Amino acid sequence: MSLRAALTTTAFVAACAAALPAVAADTLRTLAQRAGVRIGTAVNVDALNTDAAYARLLAREFDLVTPENALKFSVVQPGRDRFDFAQADALVAFAEAHGMQVNGHVLVWHQQLPDWLTQGSFSRDELKAILREHIRTLVTRYRGRMASWDVAAEAVDEDGRLRDTFWLRGIGPDYLALAFQWAHEADPQAHLRYNDYGGEGDGAKSDGIYDLVAGLRRKGAPIHGVGLQMHVSLNDAPRASEVRINMQRLAALGLQTHISEMDVMLTLPASRADLRAQAALYRDMLKACLAVPQCRSFSTWGASDRYSWIPEFFPGQGDALLFDMAGRPKPAYDRVRRILRAAASGKRTGETVKPVETNPENK
Ligand code: XIL
Repeated sequence: MSLRAALTTTAFVAACAAALPAVAADTLRTLAQRAGVRIGTAVNVDALNTDAAYARLLAREFDLVTPENALKFSVVQPGRDRFDFAQADALVAFAEAHGMQVNGHVLVWHQQLPDWLTQGSFSRDELKAILREHIRTLVTRYRGRMASWDVAAEAVDEDGRLRDTFWLRGIGPDYLALAFQWAHEADPQAHLRYNDYGGEGDGAKSDGIYDLVAGLRRKGAPIHGVGLQMHVSLNDAPRASEVRINMQRLAALGLQTHISEMDVMLTLPASRADLRAQAALYRDMLKACLAVPQCRSFSTWGASDRYSWIPEFFPGQGDALLFDMAGRPKPAYDRVRRILRAAASGKRTGETVKPVETNPENK
């Protein structure tokens, strides 16, 4: 390790230690547990393996983790006959050691596919066999250890129609129902979700997602939940009231809902007013979730800004998460904690929506 890296790491650890007294009493996860909701984050497994302060932060604040990349097709199946579970195994072991649930992410998606797959020329039957094998291998390996899976993601386009993807072209629209069926066969207890972005509130995409999952339910596909990703910015976010109404209509289909990947990107450098506005958005979306009994988890796409995907994918943007570069809680953290504390003391509202009947397969 270079001197600079060592100093940075030391500074990071020291900053986390300094931040500890402020958050030691009630952490997000202790409050969330009392409030009856899971509080989650995506995890960068390389950082988990190398950055002890990051690992401590995760274990202290969250009770649900999603591998950020470890189970993406290109990472986990780099060759047709070669699977690499090193990263995912490390995360599952960490989660089990700290009493956290794991959400498997993601079985059928059109991004981060390996070249052997996208550059190959496979017939429809071959692609079905490849996808089936992929799903069967992953879900069987973690049977009983993954609480849930994002079975399919981002299959709907901005206009509400099915997105033109590698899987749609190669297999046809059935690929979605098949993926849910195969996942269910491999682990009948796992909670199976559809996950998408940009359809959290109202609009064509949100209607398209609703129609897709309603159709899957009608066909009897084993789908149990919908993840609303919630990658937003200060001037491009749905209204919380629309999010609540959307969650209620999904709940009426018998589905649970989740805020699955929230982050709020800010233009850098962020001002204090930006950080306050960001905190208000986190507060509003968490309140929308807590107002719907079927909303069972609230996850952010990363814990600290140090490991956020935003600066790389949206140059000039960042500061999107609950903890800053040094792992210190931001105004958004305090807001989220305050809302969870209120919910923990019995103020979770919205009981007007009928709870989903308890179905052992739909945990
Ligand atoms: C992102 C990761 O955060 C990046 O590290 C990776 O390079 C690309 O994918 N929606 C999703 C996630 O469902 O899988 C994406 O994760 C972010 C958007």
